[in-house]
Amino acid sequence: WTEMFHSHKDTRPHGPSSVGLDVEFIGFKHLYGLPEHAHINLHLLSTTHDEPYRLYNLDVFEYELNNNMALYGSVPYIIAHSAKWTVGVYWNNPTETWVDVDHKKDEVIRMVMMMVVMIVMMMAHSHWLSESGIIDLFIMLGPMADELFRQYAALTGTTPLPPLFAIGYHQSRWNYMDEKDVYSVILGFDANNIPLDVLWLDIEHTDDKRYFTFDSNRFGNPKKLLDDVALTTRKMVAAVDPHFKKDTKYKQYSNARSSDLLVKDRDGNEYEGWCWPGSSAWLDFINPEARKFWSNQFLYHNYEGSTKDLYTWNDMNEPSVFNGPEISMHRDALHSAGSIEHRQVHNIYGLYVQRSTFEGHLLRSKNRTRPFVLSRSFFAGSQRYGAVWTGDNAADWSHLEVSTSMLLTLNLVGVTFSGADVGGFFRNPSAELLTRWYQAATYQPFFRAHAHLDTKRREPYLFDRYHMTIMREAIVSRYRLLPYWYLLFYQSETSGMPLMRPLWVEFPESEDTFEIYNTYMVGSSILVQPIVKSAVNVVSVYLPGCHEVIWYGDSYEIFKGCQVVDVPVTLEKIPVFYRGGSIIPIRERIRRSSSSSSSSSSSSSAALNDPYSLLIYLDNKNEADGYFYHDDFSTYKYRDGHFVYRNFVYRSNNTIVSRSLNKDSKFKSNSWIERIYIIGLGQ
Ligand code: NOJ
Repeated sequence: WTEMFHSHKDTRPHGPSSVGLDVEFIGFKHLYGLPEHAHINLHLLSTTHDEPYRLYNLDVFEYELNNNMALYGSVPYIIAHSAKWTVGVYWNNPTETWVDVDHKKDEVIRMVMMMVVMIVMMMAHSHWLSESGIIDLFIMLGPMADELFRQYAALTGTTPLPPLFAIGYHQSRWNYMDEKDVYSVILGFDANNIPLDVLWLDIEHTDDKRYFTFDSNRFGNPKKLLDDVALTTRKMVAAVDPHFKKDTKYKQYSNARSSDLLVKDRDGNEYEGWCWPGSSAWLDFINPEARKFWSNQFLYHNYEGSTKDLYTWNDMNEPSVFNGPEISMHRDALHSAGSIEHRQVHNIYGLYVQRSTFEGHLLRSKNRTRPFVLSRSFFAGSQRYGAVWTGDNAADWSHLEVSTSMLLTLNLVGVTFSGADVGGFFRNPSAELLTRWYQAATYQPFFRAHAHLDTKRREPYLFDRYHMTIMREAIVSRYRLLPYWYLLFYQSETSGMPLMRPLWVEFPESEDTFEIYNTYMVGSSILVQPIVKSAVNVVSVYLPGCHEVIWYGDSYEIFKGCQVVDVPVTLEKIPVFYRGGSIIPIRERIRRSSSSSSSSSSSSSAALNDPYSLLIYLDNKNEADGYFYHDDFSTYKYRDGHFVYRNFVYRSNNTIVSRSLNKDSKFKSNSWIERIYIIGLGQ
């Protein structure tokens, strides 16, 4: 049964196999889901004249757009939506999967009331095919979108509320080269009054790519560095990849090896491949013992130099093997003491890496503080362990454009905490492109700038005053809206609702919205259309809501829903609209990070007591409704009632009613609502 793929051999000792099934969505024209693909369109296109959508987690160099081939993560889940129903089908299979999609008219002859009639119905056809495993299919019947999100969340889980800093602004690059570099970047942000929560260290911070270590020349005093950065109220994140340098003096490798926790090759020897450190071995994350081992590495005595302010980035976890087939692991490699072939679990390997890291962080804090872990690879359920990003994009307008639909798709399939490298990973963005990217990412759940080793430095303060000021304003608007984002994350933990929502999620009956991919909602109140082309002076924005919905522009101008409006554009802003009837919590004290206080000696409790404001956008009946959430921003105490959750209602007789949705709240805070803006009075 041996098969050759270029120079790679797959022995297929159990012979060839496959499982498949057809699923017809009768009465549906629009299907969504099946990430990860870099498609500009949001709805799935027919594959009749194309390759099927491929789901096989791969590290793809300079990925192309509008291609059905595989990328870093997979979620074998399709959502079908029509004006009446939203349903979903989840194919629970972590082996290589291909899905064909076809839209056709189904012509059926029926007997209706003694007459023979021809009924023509739209239907979407899907054909699922996996290399191995069993058929394990879940059908969710909605019928409304919010019910569908809840059903899928009951099956695969939701994103737990992240610590507040994680939804602030992150600055990364491959690499900040030494301690001095880190201090100077922090200074650059502070000197220019640009808020920043997290500074990232890519793989070059390690001792020759031995993860869980620091290069002693460049990062000789990591504890001091982390403490100093913490004093500026910031956190750091460091890369920890799942391969080990094969060096018997490297304790992580030699301990994993002596405990027999490494992936094996087809002959039962240690699997060896090439990755950043050179010759490498891979921890067998499919084995629960190996996961425990990995989690233990995050304890301070194992991860020397780390502190509670250091969080983790899991990269290359598809897994990426430079000299393997398709830059990944051989399918006949072996997991769990030889009992499981890699092909059986390929798409879920990355999820287990992120999960073990998440559990390692819990172990480290004795379950007290909320972890933050970023992963490149993912599968259905990865949302339970942190954030993901869309990998190595490019500094190109088309990559900015595609980030909207890629992140909307991820949000639809539960992977809500997601983002794209701001500025594009490869190549150098123009000041205009980078500015537009910041403005777009302000309204995406995970907000991180990152860049390739060979690119020019591009921290916002390195640009001319004009562009820098606009980039700063974009970051500042994110911080102003953090209370709203935080509320959405809290609600999403319990409801599974996406944070970034295609317009049809909020306006399910409005067929005009079903193919819109460039405009979306953040929660139910804010509509955004990023600018994704150069030198734009005017854009057309579709404002949904045919039943008397009204929208407010940035300068409080009012628009009726159910129309396309031409919006004049300058570089300063992108089109953002607020839905009439919304109440949006914001914070107006903009500080250098989400947890910084007014005095320079930081104490996060001081920021905790900063006041809030409410933006009340009245609807055409002079009413509005919204929520407010507040807790300690970092621990799990909210799960024991230590939080404030309130509903605010503005009534047509111009009164505001507020009621607690957490009557037994044990949370004490000196924060207050300082201002209320009522927008649209007497419109
Ligand atoms: C690949 C990742 O996608 C990229 O973000 C990172 O900078 C490099 N690996 C180096 O770690």
